[in-house]
Amino acid sequence: MARSPFPPDYPGEYPRITTPLPGPKAREFMARDSRTVSQNLTKDVPLVVSRGQGMVVEDVDGNRFLDFAAGISTVSTGHCHPEVVKAVQEQAGRLIHICYTDFFYPVYIELCEELAAIAPMRGSKRVFLTNSGAEAVETAMKLARLRTGRQKIVGFFGAFHGRTYGAMTLTASKPVQRKGYGPFLPEVLHTHYAYCYRCPVNRIPETCGVECLDLLTESYLHHSVDPSELAAVIVEPVQGEGGFIPPHRDFLPKLQELCRKHGILLVADEVQCGMGRTGKMFAFEHYGIEPDMIILAKGIASGMPISAVIAKQDVMQWNDGGHGSTFGGNPVSCASALATLRLLKSGLVENAGVVGSHLIDRLRTLQGRHAAIGDVRGLGLMVGIEVVADRATRKPAPQKRHKVIEKAFELGLLTLPCGESTIRLSPPLIAREADADKAVAILDAAFAAAG
Ligand SMILES: Cc1ncc(COP(=O)(O)O)c(C=O)c1O
Repeated sequence: MARSPFPPDYPGEYPRITTPLPGPKAREFMARDSRTVSQNLTKDVPLVVSRGQGMVVEDVDGNRFLDFAAGISTVSTGHCHPEVVKAVQEQAGRLIHICYTDFFYPVYIELCEELAAIAPMRGSKRVFLTNSGAEAVETAMKLARLRTGRQKIVGFFGAFHGRTYGAMTLTASKPVQRKGYGPFLPEVLHTHYAYCYRCPVNRIPETCGVECLDLLTESYLHHSVDPSELAAVIVEPVQGEGGFIPPHRDFLPKLQELCRKHGILLVADEVQCGMGRTGKMFAFEHYGIEPDMIILAKGIASGMPISAVIAKQDVMQWNDGGHGSTFGGNPVSCASALATLRLLKSGLVENAGVVGSHLIDRLRTLQGRHAAIGDVRGLGLMVGIEVVADRATRKPAPQKRHKVIEKAFELGLLTLPCGESTIRLSPPLIAREADADKAVAILDAAFAAAG
């Protein structure tokens, strides 16, 4: 009989808050943080974590939280899944680092084989392993320029791709992420994503002709750029940081058509929406496209640092020594990724689809009770709640969003913000319907308390 991918039940009641928040020990750590730690790392809630198990995070004062943040969608198999822990411990006892740039080792090869096998692209594929989402984005940008001999790269408004210079240039999510850091990488252009909710063109997705894409072709391809100059279009199949936004169903197919017509590489940044989060291994599978490159990071290794670029064989052709990474694909992260993939493939991806639909249904019933819930949207366990001043105007209400997140935290639920005024729900893919029900009950109370 196949082993269950779910970890043993948490041995106790959760959530359970027993001190004022932050508790006394948490306060001490926060005071120390404020004296020494770089202060760009601002937090939405005062949580000082001691340990995690499954769906539960415990703070240093013994409070237990239900985790619907998962380290920004990263802890895909839940906290410290026993099979992941075992794989990490065994690998750490065997080999921690040797550098794949210089020497071979089996887990690197095994992981690349696994990732190539699950990537739904025809023909042979190749895989390069890196450390973070941003490093994988840089890799894809370099490769796109190298392979096509072209320089221009198109990204989208609302997109987030990381904090290094190439990835930051491609990012157009919040001005603060770029303010003061220019000049940016030349030849990176931005255009409109098929952002149906509050779309400036057409608010009714069913009748939309994906004007966003027409805007791209109008604004660039008809007026200022010859398409033969574009190396790549890099797109999040579901926008993450920008607001948890699944695009209009025709958007990605039309984008693919455009890319194919002009020899432009289509790159899917699946850093946040990939690895089963949306109920399919890759989010772009919901839209029937086949990108030339896939960028993966967050969910690959249940929290261990690793990322990957998977590309069609004819795309991933480097000059010898033209690219590398000292830590990329380190053995312990590879072992964690292999254990994570086994669990994802043995039921957790399907679980994300089922529990995600349940969560969205339950949240939509809350819409009738709280006028501040402007929209509930998502795929699988990538679910956004848009918080608005009132539903008629759909005016974003970031302050109210913050209040709801704070109140939910006080009641024992961890969530994160994204976009202008969205609450992002991205629990581990081991979440059960009972966890979704607990989260919805807390959000109901949090919206009521936030007024
Ligand atoms: C879609 C997307 N791409 C890239 C990144 C950058 O990943 P990292 O923070 O690991 O560099 C993120 C991070 O949130 C992301 O959501």
